[in-house]
Amino acid sequence: MSLTCKDLLSIHDLSTSEVYEILELSRELKQKQQQGIEHHVLKGKTLGMIFQKSSTRTRVSFEVGMWQLGGMALFLSANDLQIGRGEPVRDTARVLSRYVDGVMIRTFSHAEVEELAHYASIPIINGLTDLLHPCQALADIFTVVEHKGNLKGLKMAYIGDGNNMANALLHICAKVGMDITVATPAGYEPDKRMVAQAQADAGQSGSRITITNQPLAAAEGADVLYTDVWASMGQEAEQMARRRVFADFQINSQTLAIANKGAIVLHCLPAHRGEEITNDVIEGPQSVVFDEAENRLHVQKAIMALLMGGRR
Ligand code: CP
Ligand code: NVA
Repeated sequence: MSLTCKDLLSIHDLSTSEVYEILELSRELKQKQQQGIEHHVLKGKTLGMIFQKSSTRTRVSFEVGMWQLGGMALFLSANDLQIGRGEPVRDTARVLSRYVDGVMIRTFSHAEVEELAHYASIPIINGLTDLLHPCQALADIFTVVEHKGNLKGLKMAYIGDGNNMANALLHICAKVGMDITVATPAGYEPDKRMVAQAQADAGQSGSRITITNQPLAAAEGADVLYTDVWASMGQEAEQMARRRVFADFQINSQTLAIANKGAIVLHCLPAHRGEEITNDVIEGPQSVVFDEAENRLHVQKAIMALLMGGRR
């Protein structure tokens, strides 16, 4: 088994042992960084980072992470690349493959990332599409292990929009044997194909997957509560309408009271306080959102080391 030269477009493409390999190396690299031990496993390597959407965490954690691994990262805004003026993705893929050792891309269409990966001869990492956000979901699960000590048998309740986060969390929970209930308003359920993929993996791992329109019932017995914005990047025009539709799909003190005692609260950030989560919950003792944000750095370093270096 080896992740060397593979792409990371979707967690569904990884085996369970590959997921654990990423988590284990994340732990090692986090420890090394905390102890000040040099870990230049990507010395001399470069990562291209294409952004068609805004970012704070993804951009900074990939760029800093690459530096800490001894390599360098290039921020490539789609506005400045020729891709923004219509150069085909397949040409961009082949040109960048001649210069850099890996590409992280954040864009709208998942198919565009698949096309980039198809034509590139270097690893392509999905830094968020409208369909999936795999790096975030891996950092989330790493955060759960840190706080809960294990994954199998735990229950996650995702309450909110059936978006890229919901899809990626379904994938990861199914891989590691965590139960997951996704509660969304009717008509905003997660992508059917992603749910089917998660169900296929759940058959192997033993996790239970539930899709519902009942947010409070979803929180019952949950060890991890998760939410994300009601309107994702690209859906700004729907923001007002969504506020009405999603009003009952908020993580607040009532949700916490229903979940298991000691449940942790995650949010990929950025958060809209007073919409999908209340200020008291995100600032409260059960919230681990800033550990979660930090872990983007450690987990993505592991992903880059495994995909782009192939050695520790
Ligand atoms: N969670 C996340 O991906 O944050 P950014 O949009 O700031 O990168
Ligand atoms: N669902 C959100 C996640 C942001 C990290 C979005 O796509 O905007």
